[in-house]
Amino acid sequence: MNITLRTPNFTLRPAQVGDAELIARYLNDFAVAGNLARVPFPYHLSDAKAWLGSRKPSLPVEETNFSIDLPGEGFAGHVGFHMGPQGPIIGYWLGQPFWGRGIMTEAVLASLEWFFDVTDADTIYSGVFHFNHASLAIQTKLGFTQTGRSTLLCLARGAEVEHIDTKLTRARFQQNPDPVLQFGNAAAESLEGQKK
Ligand SMILES: CC(C)(COP(=O)(O)OP(=O)(O)OC[C@H]1O[C@@H](n2cnc3c(N)ncnc32)[C@H](O)[C@@H]1OP(=O)(O)O)[C@@H](O)C(=O)NCCC(=O)NCCS
Repeated sequence: MNITLRTPNFTLRPAQVGDAELIARYLNDFAVAGNLARVPFPYHLSDAKAWLGSRKPSLPVEETNFSIDLPGEGFAGHVGFHMGPQGPIIGYWLGQPFWGRGIMTEAVLASLEWFFDVTDADTIYSGVFHFNHASLAIQTKLGFTQTGRSTLLCLARGAEVEHIDTKLTRARFQQNPDPVLQFGNAAAESLEGQKK
C-alpha cells in the first residue's frame, strides 16, 4: 500500500529507493540489529536494496511499512506490520542518533491508529526481547499487555532469545490508558489513506 501519514512532528511515508544508504547505516549497528528478530548483522547496503526491492505497492495492508521522515533530518527508521500466525504484528526500529526523543512512541501510536482505522483487526501483536526495556516501555504506554514468554530467533545474534510476547486489543487502544498521550486520537492525518 502507498500510504503517507502526518503526525505532529514528522511524516510516515512509503519506503523509497533513496533510503537504502541510511537504512544500511542505521541497521549496521548491533545496538539496533541485535534487538530485532529478522535483521542480519553485519547489515550491508545490498541487504537494504534487497529489502526495498521486496516492498511492492501491491502488498496487502497487513504488510504496510512506513519510513519515519523527520523534517530537516530525513530518514530515521521504520515502523511496519506483517502477518504472524495469530494475526498482524507491529515492529519498529530507529537509528541510534534519534533515540530518546519520543519519536518511536509517536510513530507507533500513529501507525496503530491508522491500522485499526483501515482494517477490522481486533488485536495487534508485538513483543520485545527480554532486555529491551525502552521498547517494552513504549508498548506498555500504548496499552499493550504481556501475554507470556517465548523464544525467537534473533538473526543478528545467531541465537534463540527469550521474548516477552505482547498484544494490543482495539478496545484497550481506544481507552488510551496513558494521559501523557495527549495527541492521542488526532495523531495521524491520513493523506492518501484507504478506508476499509
Ligand atoms: C527501542 C526504540 C524503538 C525506542 O525508540 P525511542 O524513539 O528512543 O523511544 P521513545 O523516546 O519514544 O520512548 C522510549 C521510552 O522508553 C523509556 N526507556 C528508555 N530506556 C529505558 C530503560 N532502559 N528502561 C526503561 N525504560 C526506558 C523512555 O523513558 C521512554 O519512555 P517515556 O517516554 O515514558 O519516558 C529505539 O531505541 C530502537 O529502535 N532500538 C533498536 C531497535 C529496537 O529495539 N526496536 C524494537 C524492537 S521490539
